[in-house]
Amino acid sequence: MRSYLLTLQYSFLGDYNMAEEKMFFINPHRIDLSNVELNGRILDVGGGGEGIIGIYKGAQVIAIDRRKGELEKAADGNYLKIIMDAKDLKFLDETFETVTAFYMFMYVPMENRKEIFKEIHRVLKKGGELVLWDMVIPQKGESKKELYGAEVKVIIGEQEIDTGYGTHWNKEQDLKYFIDLGKKAGFEVSSKQEDDKKIFIRYHKTN
Ligand SMILES: C[S@@+](CC[C@H](N)C(=O)[O-])C[C@H]1O[C@@H](n2cnc3c(N)ncnc32)[C@H](O)[C@@H]1O
Repeated sequence: MRSYLLTLQYSFLGDYNMAEEKMFFINPHRIDLSNVELNGRILDVGGGGEGIIGIYKGAQVIAIDRRKGELEKAADGNYLKIIMDAKDLKFLDETFETVTAFYMFMYVPMENRKEIFKEIHRVLKKGGELVLWDMVIPQKGESKKELYGAEVKVIIGEQEIDTGYGTHWNKEQDLKYFIDLGKKAGFEVSSKQEDDKKIFIRYHKTN
C-alpha cells in the first residue's frame, strides 16, 4: 500500500523519488461518504487524484484541478472535469449550491488559501455550503521527515477505495486554522469535527 501511496500522490510534487522513510505517516483515515449530504450543483476543487467526489456524486459534479494530468488520472465517470486554478475560478458569482474540497488544501501553499476561500465564497449561492475534508498537519519541528501524509480508505455504499494523500511537510493546519480561514472569507460554520488528525467541516454562506 505505502509504495502505492508514494507513487500516487507524489506524481505532482515533481519527480520525487522519495523513499518511504522520508515520509511521516499518521494513522490511516477511514472516510465513509455514504450518507454525507451534498446538494445541488457541486464544484469539487482539487478534484483530480482519485476523483472521489466525482465518483460519489456523478452528474452533480464539476471537478476542477490546475493540473491536467491529475484530472486525466482521476476516475472516469459521469462528471465534468475542467482544468482551472481555484485561485481564479472562471464561474459567475453564486453559481453553485455546494463546493467540496476533499484532501485538497493540504496540497495548497499557505499563502494561496485565503484567495481560494474568497473565490469559493464568491461562486457559492446564498445558503450554499463548502464541505471540507483534510488532515491535521502539526509543526515539523526537529523531524527529519520531508513529507507528511496518510493512507485513506473511502467508503461509498458497497464501494471501498484505498488511496493515500501526502504532501511536503512545510505547512501547519488544524481545525481552528480552517475555521478561522473560513470566517475571514465570510463563512459561518454549521458543523465541525477533528479526531485522530482527521478534519471535517461544513461551512455555509449566509449573505
Ligand atoms: C491529490 S488531490 C486531493 C484528493 C482528490 N480530491 C481526490 O479525490 O483524490 C489535490 C489536488 O489539488 C490540486 N490543486 C492544488 N492547488 C490547486 C489550485 N490552486 N487550483 C486547483 N487545483 C489545485 C492538485 O493539483 C491536486 O491534484
